Amino acid sequence: PPYRVGVIVGSLSRESVNRQLAEALQRLAPKELEFFEISYADLPLYNRDLDADYPQVAREFKEAVGSADAVLFVTPEYNRSIPGPLKNAIDWGSRPYGDSAWEDKPTGVIGGSPGKIGTAVGQQTLRSTLSYLNARQMTSPEAYIQITPGLIDDDGRVTDAETEKFLRTFMAKFLEYVARVLTVIPQG
Ligand code: FNR
Repeated sequence: PPYRVGVIVGSLSRESVNRQLAEALQRLAPKELEFFEISYADLPLYNRDLDADYPQVAREFKEAVGSADAVLFVTPEYNRSIPGPLKNAIDWGSRPYGDSAWEDKPTGVIGGSPGKIGTAVGQQTLRSTLSYLNARQMTSPEAYIQITPGLIDDDGRVTDAETEKFLRTFMAKFLEYVARVLTVIPQG
């Protein structure tokens, strides 16, 4: 330690509740975890015609994923799946064939929505993609967060004690998971 965790927020919205959740998670995480954001907003739409000559922005995205000890996805659910821009970024990271940034990458998945099932279906589609790409995944604890107005304040503080405790535990478990995987599969 410390381990460098790349955070991928699945929403591009300026008012994203998942961005708030990501901030709260970083605040509640054990000090052995350090965070940096992996942005993907400037990626063009993936097209395999570009595999032979990857755009610079896509190279940088892959390098950012590659340099991370682990990746934490904090994502909304869109229409019972993940947002298209996030899927696009994952696709860019997966190619050219045989040169995927996701292979053996330790990952965590969490998300929040105003609705009661809190991104459960969207997370399953993300997990199935990560499985196919042979990323490592913390499979438990799962975390489906219903984000009601005021649950997370403007400074990324969780205002509900039970939720705060749950998220703190989630990040402690994520540290344990990442540390364990990295002893077998060093990154970078
Ligand atoms: C949604 N929303 C949504 N919520 C949900 O729980 N399940 C879903 O399938 C969907 N589908 C969906 C599609 C589209 C196109 C939008 C814009 C929204 C609502 C969504 O959870 C809500 O807008 C969250 O605030 C999105 O997360 P961010 O952007 O605030 O992080």
